[in-house]
Amino acid sequence: MRVLGESETKTRDDRPRAAVIGAGHVGAMTALRLAETSLFSRVTLVDIIPGLAAGLALDMWHSASLRGFTTKIEGSTDLSALEGASYIIMTAGRPRQPGMSRTDLTGVNAEIVSGVADGIRRYAPNSVAIVVTNPLEEMTHLMARRTGFPSNRIIGMAGVLDSARFCSLIALEGIARPQDVSAIALGSHGTEMVIPLSLATVRGRPLEELIAKDRLAAIVERARDSGAEVVKLLQKGSAYFSPAESAASMVAAMVKGGSDLIAACVQSAGAYGVEDTRIGLPVRLATDGVKEIVKLPLRPDEQAALAEAARSIAKRISELG
Ligand code: APR
Repeated sequence: MRVLGESETKTRDDRPRAAVIGAGHVGAMTALRLAETSLFSRVTLVDIIPGLAAGLALDMWHSASLRGFTTKIEGSTDLSALEGASYIIMTAGRPRQPGMSRTDLTGVNAEIVSGVADGIRRYAPNSVAIVVTNPLEEMTHLMARRTGFPSNRIIGMAGVLDSARFCSLIALEGIARPQDVSAIALGSHGTEMVIPLSLATVRGRPLEELIAKDRLAAIVERARDSGAEVVKLLQKGSAYFSPAESAASMVAAMVKGGSDLIAACVQSAGAYGVEDTRIGLPVRLATDGVKEIVKLPLRPDEQAALAEAARSIAKRISELG
């Protein structure tokens, strides 16, 4: 029997690389979700706490034979580890505590995002950056400004999560499975979230025909406050299973060639009459980021709510300085 030499056993791995910044709750779960797809040659986890990213990465890799994935996972404290990554998922930063709004995180997380953005610009200048750190619209804007990346390569993750939360809550009414509900959450990842009910359906049937108006309004409200509901229950830290799944699904879709219609925080550039801010809009993703903003027919009240959301977001962004 001939024993293969090292050069004969190693095959070239052309799969892209992804990096996740922040090995906390959201980051660790995102890294695992991405690795489990086996779409990447490697997922690199980066955190400033010594040993945290490396330890978690090793632990995750130990599960590879059981789970059956082939994506290597590594950890580092150094942003130079981003070199070669095509997709960067930014989750570093403080989460909310009970009683806090996402905007209460602005100061502390702006500093973290700025530092990381400089590292992304330096070590992964051609990557697509997906921002998860809150407050989402402000941090997405900051990431764009500091990296100087073109608008298609900076995407904020919130619409996928908010839409999924709404679909899951509708399913609790007992009329459908979560995946049978089609709805899209636009505007901000917070108070100014806009869920256009005129577009929401269950297996093609208008949701407004299936659930009474008052009840629907209450579900929209609960979806909007879902993050706070989880924070209140946990008492320490914020949601991470569904945010991680949302971010990972966006990146996986990009690697596979593109996404269906989803909501994401992007530069509006006049779409929906919104001049120029970062706001949740319906988009399609391609391998290299945002492919297009999709124009959906909104009712006048929904369009007005979106315009109002844009005004509030633009004000908060202008206050960033
Ligand atoms: N570089 C790398 N990692 C950092 C940096 C930095 N400059 N600053 C902080 N971190 C790391 C922390 O060490 C911590 O491990 O970010 C991690 C954050 O993890 P958690 O505290 O568990 O927070 P998490 O629940 O993951 O939320 C992170 O995502 O959904 C948003 O609102 C949430 O802004 C928050 C972010």
